[in-house]
Order: sequence, then C-alpha cells, then structure tokens
Amino acid sequence: MVQMTSQDYMAREDKFGAHNYHPLPVVLERGEGVFVWDVEGKRYYDFLSAYSAVNQGHCHPKIVAAMIEQAQKMTLTSRAFYNSCLGEFEEYITQYFGYDKVLPMNTGAEADETAIKLCRKWAYKKKGIARYEAKIVVCEGNFHGRTTTIVSMSTDPSSYEDYGPFTPGFIKIPYNDIAALENALQDPTVAGFLVEPIQGEAGVFVPDQGYIRKAYDLCKAKNVLFIADEVQTGLARTGKMLCCDHENVKPDILILGKALSGGVMPISCVLADNDVMLTIKPGEHGSTFGGNPLAAKVGIAALEVLKAENLADNAEKMGEIFRSEISKIKSEMVEIVRGKGLLNAVVVKPKGNSTAWDVCLRLRDNGMLAKPTHDHIIRFAPPLVINEAQIREAANIFEKTMKSFE
Ligand SMILES: Cc1ncc(COP(=O)(O)O)c(C=O)c1O
Repeated sequence: MVQMTSQDYMAREDKFGAHNYHPLPVVLERGEGVFVWDVEGKRYYDFLSAYSAVNQGHCHPKIVAAMIEQAQKMTLTSRAFYNSCLGEFEEYITQYFGYDKVLPMNTGAEADETAIKLCRKWAYKKKGIARYEAKIVVCEGNFHGRTTTIVSMSTDPSSYEDYGPFTPGFIKIPYNDIAALENALQDPTVAGFLVEPIQGEAGVFVPDQGYIRKAYDLCKAKNVLFIADEVQTGLARTGKMLCCDHENVKPDILILGKALSGGVMPISCVLADNDVMLTIKPGEHGSTFGGNPLAAKVGIAALEVLKAENLADNAEKMGEIFRSEISKIKSEMVEIVRGKGLLNAVVVKPKGNSTAWDVCLRLRDNGMLAKPTHDHIIRFAPPLVINEAQIREAANIFEKTMKSFE
C-alpha cells in the first residue's frame, strides 16, 4: 500500500467532504494526554482540546477502559427499554451536581435545544404564560450550536445567514450588561435567560465579576429560569467544576456536553429539579442514542477522572502561570490576554499581512496547535492534565513564535 502524506489526506477530505469547516492544515492520527501526533509522526501540544471536549487528556486510560468494557457488553438499547447502566449514570451525575433529575442527549446543541424546550414547557405548565407567547432572553455574541432554532438566537452572520426563516421567541441583549437584562425582564412573557458564563466561541469574553450572580438574582426576582450553557466552560475548564461556581450560582437548568465524555464520544445532558424537569412527559422529547449504556459508563468515568485528578485546581494553577507568562511577552501583535483557568485567549493585532491565522500556522510549525476564533483571536485551551513544565514550554513556544514576526 502506498504511504499517504498529510497532503493526500487533506486533498481527500477536500474532495469528498462538505466544505463546512476550514481546518488548520495538519492531519492528526494519535493523541495521548496533552499531545497529539500527525501522520508524519510530528508531536504537538494540543491547545484546543477539541473545543474543550478533551479536558481529561487524549485517550484517558480510565475512560477508554470503561468504554471498551461496556462496548463489549452492550452499546445501545434506545429508550424503548430500560438498560442496566443509565440509572447508575443518572444517580451519579445528579448527586455530583446536586439536581433532582438529568435528561441525557448527545451533542451540545441537542442539550441546548432540550433546555429551550424545557423552559417553554415550564412557561406554559408552571409559570402560566399564554401558550406560544413565552420568550427567552439570550446574549449577543452567543454560541449555543448549529440547529435552526439555535442559529435563530445568534447574532453572528456566519452562523445564521441564509438559514431563515428563523424561530421566534428570543430577545437578544448585550452580554455583560445587567441593565439590559433588567430591562428585558420587565416583559412578563419572559420565561428564561440563557447565558454562557464565559462566551467561548465569541473569543473567550469573561464578564465582569458579579455579572452571573446579579443576573441570577434578577431572574429569581422575576420568576425567570436562569439557564447556564456550560458546554464549553463546564467540567473544570475554568478552575472550578462549573464556571457558575465562581459566583456560587446554581442554575435552574444546567447544560453540559463536550468533556462529559472526555472526548471519546458525544454525550450531553441537561440537569434540573423536578419542578422544571417533570414538565416534559413520556414521548414528548428524546433521542435514539441519548442515555445509551455506553455513554452512561463513559460519562461516569469522565466525571470520576475530573475529581480524582483534581483537574479544576490544576486548571486554576496552570491558567495563572500561562496568563502571567504570556502577558510578559513583548510583541506588538499581542494586544490582550484574557481568560479564566485554562480557557484563555490572545487578541492578535495584525502586523503587515500577518494575522491570527498566520500565527497559528507558525505555532503549528513550532509544535503547538491552536485555532483562531473570529479572525483576530486565538483561543488557548489545553487538556487540563497539563503540568507546570509543559505549560511553561508551551508559553515559550508562543513567545518564540510571536518574536519570529518581528
Ligand atoms: C457554549 C456552547 N454551547 C453549545 C455548543 C454546541 O455543542 P456541539 O458542537 O456539541 O453541538 C458549543 C460548541 O462549541 C458551545 O461552545
């Protein structure tokens, strides 16, 4: 068999795959911990972690072992029948996060859709809003996924353009603007406020200290559900198990995805108490794969690893070091460094023809993978198992790369 090169792999994807992504030109075939290797055998630090899905590190042995063991027994039953694993997962995760109930799905977008449906059901069954009048307040710059309803909430043309007609029922307000929220909540048909505690895709926008707490309190005063999308910020990424924990807020509906499987398969869920969750009755929502036995076992293992390895604490400590090292770099192109825990970003000021994309290409050449978000911002989100020597080496790679543009 002829040995394929990176160029061959990329050409094949380009020819047979839809062009809905613009990947950095590197072809990966193996991952372990904080590292990934390309098909030519070159090793890189992974500073994207599959958009924070691989928080536990690539191919974590405990998660992979749980997966293999269950895969050899049973993978899928559908929810037409009970299975011997789902209840164990449900008990484990509800106790882990302190909620009455969980509803398992697969992708982050599905979990967001589930939260929207739950909020609307609650609006009609519990809050007493006239049928089909309920509204959900969302933030400008949000990213909650790619379904037609979710892109109806988006303010990013690359997400919504040409995908209308759009789903009504959303009020868009500026992010990190308490006055705007207070104003929107005057409308008695508002049932929920859906928010990312840090806007990841928008470029790691960290709101002011106290924003989440104040927003939660305002929602409580108006009997509005506070719905946190922690698909990207959740699960130890920002230095706490949940980003809302930084402000001691327990969302009425908590949305999780990505690292809920440590990156080995799509697992997502929403958590809520009975008053909200039991408004959805049998047959009114679901998914063929949601709550499958394989996902149940993998989900438990992924959550166990986060606690057993103190990954929230490590994210907090390594994040401090990373931001402090990056902030010291003297480069005209490094405009702003921001983030929390190991969810960080650098705003890049273009120099001549060189943009964030060129920085990422050169980082790749120097052994570090990161991806621009919105042209001028580079997100840095390594697996949370990274150690001090590694985070310092990665910061050095970034410094060396930035210096090479001078
Ligand atoms: C905050 C947030 N919500 C939802 C999603 C959608 O998740 P998925 O791509 O698994 O549908 C993402 C994905 O990046 C996200 O960052």
